[in-house]
Amino acid sequence: MVPADLGFRHRFIPAPHKAAPVLLLLHGTGGDESDLIPMGEQLAQAIPGGAHLLSPRGRTLENGMPRFFRRLAEGVFDIEDLKFRAAELARFIESAAQVYGFDARKVIAVGYSNGANIAAAVLLLHPGVLSAAILLRPMIPFEPEKLPDLTGVRIFIAGGQRDPIVPPGQTQRLATLLESAGADVELFRHTGGHELGQAELVASARWLSRLG
Ligand code: MLT
Repeated sequence: MVPADLGFRHRFIPAPHKAAPVLLLLHGTGGDESDLIPMGEQLAQAIPGGAHLLSPRGRTLENGMPRFFRRLAEGVFDIEDLKFRAAELARFIESAAQVYGFDARKVIAVGYSNGANIAAAVLLLHPGVLSAAILLRPMIPFEPEKLPDLTGVRIFIAGGQRDPIVPPGQTQRLATLLESAGADVELFRHTGGHELGQAELVASARWLSRLG
């Protein structure tokens, strides 16, 4: 049976047990719903009992490249679209929980670049939707007027010290912002650039294994 697309083209790979948490895989610009599946499978092994994988494809296109929200230029976001798309993604997660029968209180985002930015926007705008998040090369998606209450939310952030797109200072500011909202944040600094390295995947798997 072809799964309903629930507003987003997506892949869902169930874990052996329904009660397992979900890794919500959010690709970078130009990626799709298959991009982060290998990484998700690797990360799921760090969780006792495994994890379901839910991987949507971003609904906006930039020169044919899927993204999770529009941008006006590199690092300059269309904030209205960002907020609209964050709400849309939050609704998708709720609908997917009903259709696939996973626990909506155990959704761990794993986002890279544009995917990390939409995950950060969901954390700031829709607290309660994500129970934890791995943000790889995130930026501050927008400056919130009011901080949400993220008490109890665990967040792993990985920044690249030589990232030409995200200055290290911005990664630190995002960590501080999420911490002031009450989240428990671990910041991992990778020596590389915007691309992902093996070291931070190992570090995020270790972080996941301690989530409990
Ligand atoms: C990207 O290329 O995806 C950017 O660095 C991040 C974004 O635009 O959200």
